[in-house]
Amino acid sequence: MPQDSIYYCHPVFRPPSEANSLLIQLTEGCTYRCTFCISNLRRKFKIRALEDIKKDFEIARKIYGPNVKRIFFLDGNGMVTPFQDLLEVLNYANKSFPYLERCGIYAHSKDILKKTDIQLEELSKLGLKILYVGFETGSNELLNDINKQVTKEDHIKASKKLFNVNITLSATFINGLSGSNNQEISKNHAIESADLVNKICPDDSRLWYIAFLSLMIPPGTKIYEKKSVGNFKEMTPNEILEELKTFIQHINFKNKNANCVFRSNHASNYLPIKGTLEKDKEKILNTIDYGLTYKESLRPDYYRRL
Ligand SMILES: C[S@@+](CC[C@H](N)C(=O)[O-])C[C@H]1O[C@@H](n2cnc3c(N)ncnc32)[C@H](O)[C@@H]1O
Ligand code: SF4
Repeated sequence: MPQDSIYYCHPVFRPPSEANSLLIQLTEGCTYRCTFCISNLRRKFKIRALEDIKKDFEIARKIYGPNVKRIFFLDGNGMVTPFQDLLEVLNYANKSFPYLERCGIYAHSKDILKKTDIQLEELSKLGLKILYVGFETGSNELLNDINKQVTKEDHIKASKKLFNVNITLSATFINGLSGSNNQEISKNHAIESADLVNKICPDDSRLWYIAFLSLMIPPGTKIYEKKSVGNFKEMTPNEILEELKTFIQHINFKNKNANCVFRSNHASNYLPIKGTLEKDKEKILNTIDYGLTYKESLRPDYYRRL
């Protein structure tokens, strides 16, 4: 019997900004094992057969017609897919959807570093226009602690590679990684993360994105195990906002025309914050102070989710 629906490996997770994009399952699972991430709940990593992906494009074309403008390729680190396969998938996407404007993928910094500049440039020309990279922190100590298998210096190199070939960077950090009552580590997380963002800031006015999520502890993750045996205690909303405040205070771009969209308005966050760095620095700091003063303005824990 012919397949009549697009294949998805559940649960599906995608960036909030890809809510209206066609989702295509390129890989399943992730080749990394970060301690906080639900990708680890998928037992096996795989790159799907190109023939199966092409079938999904055909089904999508029948369902949505030729006018699809955006595609997001699932899953956790789809960018690990070998260059030739990515090329073929993007070519097929363009053939199926002639008005395609942008494709996006989740990428670990190491996946970006493994591609040459020429390869990235080719992918960019074929419509790979945005990569969602989990920085999590600029602190090498915490990167090690969460088993990110990457350093701050790798994040800097990977970001510069993207900027050089006009692929938009959308990077996420996580507040709360140090756990409660670890003031020094938390402060270092904030300062090193700000330093990382200051160092990658391009010297033109292109758009790029930085977001902070707040740590969630999903069952089945390593950090959940750590919490269950009393080796990790979640930060309080107050500690999280103080950490974010220190990050914002340390943002200092040489390029005063930078166009860095800052968001901390994910469902995991206690307080919705949005602005442009560093133009809106004072406004963002005032919003954080408001949250620190008026606890009733914070999202209750039972409403927080990934
Ligand atoms: C599905 S991951 C993909 C990113 C990419 N694989 C990488 O690591 O560079 C998306 C992002 O969601 C955030 N995230 C995942 N699990 C989280 C959790 N338990 N709490 C808060 N944020 C989380 C992290 O910032 C993570 O990088
Ligand atoms: S955060 Fe990214 S790299 Fe780490 S396990 Fe999750 S999907 Fe993989």
